Amino acid sequence: DWTAESFVETTVAQLKEKIGNDKVVLGLSGGVDSSVAAVLIHQAIGANLYCIFVDNGVLRKDEFAGVLESYKTLGLNVKGVDAKDQFYTALAGLTDPEAKRKAIGKTFIDVFDHEAHLIEGVSWLGQGTIYPDVIESVSVKGPSATIKSHHNVGGLPDFMKLKVVEPLNTLFKDEVRAVGRTMGLPEYILGRHPFPGPGLAIRILGDITPEKVEILQQVDALFIDGLKREGLYDKVWQAGAILLPVQSVGVMGDERTYERVVALRAVTSVDGMTADWAHLPYEFLADISNEIINRVKGVNRVVYDISSKPPATIEWE
Ligand code: XMP
Repeated sequence: DWTAESFVETTVAQLKEKIGNDKVVLGLSGGVDSSVAAVLIHQAIGANLYCIFVDNGVLRKDEFAGVLESYKTLGLNVKGVDAKDQFYTALAGLTDPEAKRKAIGKTFIDVFDHEAHLIEGVSWLGQGTIYPDVIESVSVKGPSATIKSHHNVGGLPDFMKLKVVEPLNTLFKDEVRAVGRTMGLPEYILGRHPFPGPGLAIRILGDITPEKVEILQQVDALFIDGLKREGLYDKVWQAGAILLPVQSVGVMGDERTYERVVALRAVTSVDGMTADWAHLPYEFLADISNEIINRVKGVNRVVYDISSKPPATIEWE
């Protein structure tokens, strides 16, 4: 029978055997898969695993600092790379969702390739690929798709020529979580909702500016913190906020305001392929709406997305 403990024992032994004294580079995303892969490889080869965690400027509020700190607490040899400006430059003026995804993917590859070159003699690329990623033959998202589209335009980046080590590629998501739990990863990482690689860039409809990112980060944080406070976070599969390219009229005192509209999205789902909008309590929605409008400057209206997938996707872009 499969158990997380025996998987860890066997895999760590295999990794030691396979990698020996070589060096491995691995990109951490803050998500469950890359985190568990890192902790496994780290257990096998220690500081010869070089982890890279990139701030792409479209992460959640305080995510970069918070996640970096928990990686350090886990003992990982991790380098946090602040590449926000590089990403904002690449995104400037782009409004098409696929163009944004491509810009983010390409910039990530450039940053990662640069960082990988700084590690002398690295010969392996570690990845958190899980079994569903392997069998999903035509994937439109995720790093592999990004790498493919980059490949088509500009040839293979150097880190892609490294030997690949993917210790989770036989596991399903719940097994990955079980392995992570056995290895002492905090619930903060294990229990988190999925978050798209292009991050808040596909939740800001229209072009991306640092100012819009900051507004959305504040709204998103109030929403997510509220869900956690009310014990609702673990009841929904994914949640987030979308900044709409719309302004609406409001009143404040005697003045008319003309400010931004945000949409809140929360869904229940098993695998993200189909999803129902989460029937969050009205009282909760009322409180969160007030809190957002009172506290986030520049937002005067909140709407709740009550569309199911299909046909509406979880993300708006
Ligand atoms: P949709 O919007 O297609 O999303 O219903 C299904 C799941 O996929 C995530 N998603 C992405 N993840 N890169 C990612 O890594 C992307 O470009 C991307 N687009 C959507 C989405 O957050 C949801 O979990």
